[in-house]
Amino acid sequence: MSQHPPDGPESTADESNPVVCSCKLVSRNEIIDAIKAGHSTFIGLRLKLSVTTGCGSCLIEVDRLLAEYKDQTQDDETSF
Ligand code: FES
Repeated sequence: MSQHPPDGPESTADESNPVVCSCKLVSRNEIIDAIKAGHSTFIGLRLKLSVTTGCGSCLIEVDRLLAEYKDQTQDDETSF
């Protein structure tokens, strides 16, 4: 008898594009695309994708992606 575990919530994520924020179902590529589109600050990503607004366990990975990709931003970040 083989039973598969439930796949979990619907998401566009896969092995090459894992879910980074499981609370808000935000994948790695969605975060990278948002950074490149100009949401290159922590607050910008929170407002755009709601990442880190649940349990907060994705904070380290979001911060790492910001550091890695913010140089590729298109400079249309909203300032506060
Ligand atoms: S995993 Fe991102 S807020 Fe919980």
